[in-house]
Amino acid sequence: MPYDASLNFIFWSPTKIVFGENTALDVRIEAENLKCKKVLIVTDKELAKNTNIPEKIKKALGNLCVGIFSDVEPDSGLHIVNQGAKFGKELAADCLVSVGGGSAIDTAKGMAILLKEGGKLQDYAGFQVLTRPQTPHIVIPTTAGTGSEVTYIAVIKDHDQGRKLLFGDYNILPNVAILDPRMTEGLPPGLTAATGMDAMCHAIEAIHSLQREPMADGIALHAIRLIKEFLPRAVNDGRDMAARGQMLIAANMAGAAFSNAQVGIVHALAHTVGAKFKVHHGLANSILLPPCLRYNADACGDVYLDILSAMGVNVERISQDEAGNVLADTIADFTKRLGLPQRLRDAGVPREGLKECSEIALSDGAIVYNPKFISDPAEVLKVYEQAW
Ligand SMILES: [Fe+2]
Repeated sequence: MPYDASLNFIFWSPTKIVFGENTALDVRIEAENLKCKKVLIVTDKELAKNTNIPEKIKKALGNLCVGIFSDVEPDSGLHIVNQGAKFGKELAADCLVSVGGGSAIDTAKGMAILLKEGGKLQDYAGFQVLTRPQTPHIVIPTTAGTGSEVTYIAVIKDHDQGRKLLFGDYNILPNVAILDPRMTEGLPPGLTAATGMDAMCHAIEAIHSLQREPMADGIALHAIRLIKEFLPRAVNDGRDMAARGQMLIAANMAGAAFSNAQVGIVHALAHTVGAKFKVHHGLANSILLPPCLRYNADACGDVYLDILSAMGVNVERISQDEAGNVLADTIADFTKRLGLPQRLRDAGVPREGLKECSEIALSDGAIVYNPKFISDPAEVLKVYEQAW
């Protein structure tokens, strides 16, 4: 799928990036720059219970901090966003600082909407529904994966319907992302690997997306180089601050790339098994990536050669026809060495659940951008079966 050099595109990534060890402690400066007076910290239960990170951020904010909302759970749902927004309204919060992984960041994006617009969050589901800037939002990621600190997307679970809702709007792009490797130091190896593979999927899917464009391609290819080099190091030694820092940068770059170019079949299928069977998002992506690469191979040979090069593979003797299988094998080998499960069955997905998932996945927003048009649930089921 070579570029159509005459295609128009928009690249939009306005979030200010602050990088470096201990930069999270400068959060007050960023809040003051945004002219905020009442900052609410949004974080997840585990982080609040098991680390002193939220308290550190509270201390750094000083008298600007009006409270901590720490009820965020993995795969945050509509009810959590509603609770958080109610709490924020009571405190008259005029700024959110999210501290955590994708769930905390996306919860804060949803809260930013409700604090400004009121109403019910589900009313804003879809794309470009909002008409004005939302509540200022500073993000301090504690995982290197989602890139949500620079994306215009929030994924919030609708527990009643058993599916994930997508909110895509330039008005929910965070104002500032503070990438401090100290914030990811305590992340265990398994989660470091899984979240890192989420970033890898963002980068690869951005490059093979129907909406790919040269700005996002360049950023995504460098993210892949960084992940290839530094994810194994961060998994092997969580205190390797150089590796932690480069992984934060890689996840951020991959986020900026897919926020513009979009993702595809891997995310559509991962969202679905994630919502149905509570498979960790990064792990679901990691398992589904190789079979999805094989599925898309005949549409993406040249693109996959570029990705293989970024993975450090000599592609001189690899043809475009072979590229999909070689890349799928390379990725599977990479995730095996990271110690990640290789099959959906190892991640708690029952085989009899795949059929329903293959029907639901077709209505996921991400599938629209897949390089190969897909509308037949039987085709999706084949990919799920390969991953199972
Ligand atoms: Fe993702």
